[in-house]
Amino acid sequence: MVGWFSKLVVATTVRMPKWFVRWVSRRYVAGETLNEAMAVMKRLSSEGACFTIDVLGEEISSMEEANFFLEEYIRVMRAIREENLDANISIKPTAFGLLIDQKKGMENIRHLVEMAAKEDMFVRLDMEDHRVTTATIDAVLALHKEGLTNVGTVLQGRLFRTLADIDSLEESLGPGADYRICKGIYLEPEDISFTNYTDIVDATNAAIDRMFAAGSYVGVASHDQPVIDHTLSALKAHGMGPGIEDPRPNAGPNRHQKGPGYEFQMLLGVRGPLRRRLLKEGHRTRVYIPYGEKWYEYSIRRLKENPTIGSHVAKAFLMPWTNRP
Ligand code: FDA
Repeated sequence: MVGWFSKLVVATTVRMPKWFVRWVSRRYVAGETLNEAMAVMKRLSSEGACFTIDVLGEEISSMEEANFFLEEYIRVMRAIREENLDANISIKPTAFGLLIDQKKGMENIRHLVEMAAKEDMFVRLDMEDHRVTTATIDAVLALHKEGLTNVGTVLQGRLFRTLADIDSLEESLGPGADYRICKGIYLEPEDISFTNYTDIVDATNAAIDRMFAAGSYVGVASHDQPVIDHTLSALKAHGMGPGIEDPRPNAGPNRHQKGPGYEFQMLLGVRGPLRRRLLKEGHRTRVYIPYGEKWYEYSIRRLKENPTIGSHVAKAFLMPWTNRP
């Protein structure tokens, strides 16, 4: 359910001058260029964080546009290695053409994942709306089948299909599955997804449990206390935690420069004190770093798709003590 305040924030923001939106979004977007993103990561490295980088943009209208993302991500990977940062990359499959031409889109993604494999770098396929859920999961399955294990998908707790997806990924990949689990940012239709807060939290927590039980690598991407608390309890129940080698009997292999079977993931600029507390307790904590020239289009589209983001942002702006970067 989206309240009147969220709707009001969205209606107001889309009418604001671009400079104002830029000013507000500064804490959530690292900048327009790779250099700016590198500077943010170097700064946060001193806190002990690790990173995943997202070049802003998605759903392209011609296959030529995919080349931009391919080239930019190659630059990103080089820069990560040159600067010796603890970072990997997150890509949007539709930015590589998956919705225009599935075969060519898949070739682009494969090319990038192969290049990343040479650097032992992990590639996360961000999960977009339900039109590409199956295609995104299939891409990960196909790449693993070809021996490219440095790639994993995101699953969204709000979708009814998620538990079944975990089961079928476990069947195909065994404990080699490597997930990011989040609630899901897209407001999906009621016939395929939960729509109220409690159901979404419960479903997300159930997915986390299923992933841990399967021996998978679990990246919990949430700033929400009930999800974090649930994860901490699940870790305890499995005897997992900071500095402990993953004790699950069915745990997957040591993976592509990751933590002991799990990590927490948060967005740049959101709930910094919570992230730093988890870091201080020794948990591996990854910050999602978006950057790119398309920051404006991206921010406005996300707001329109899910107006609750608008109320989070407005709250952080008007009541900064509730959400420090
Ligand atoms: P919730 O929305 O309840 O937020 C909890 C609290 O966190 C809020 O009260 C507020 O204080 C703060 N907060 C959360 N979001 C904020 C924001 N944008 N600005 C300011 N404050 C905010 N989704 C998806 O569909 N596909 C994907 O691939 C990803 N990838 C992804 C990566 C990472 C690292 C994260 C953290 C999240 C995603 N998501 C995503 C988004 C995710 O599905 C979800 O929409 C958001 O994380 C918000 O849900 P929370 O669980 O954080 O809870």
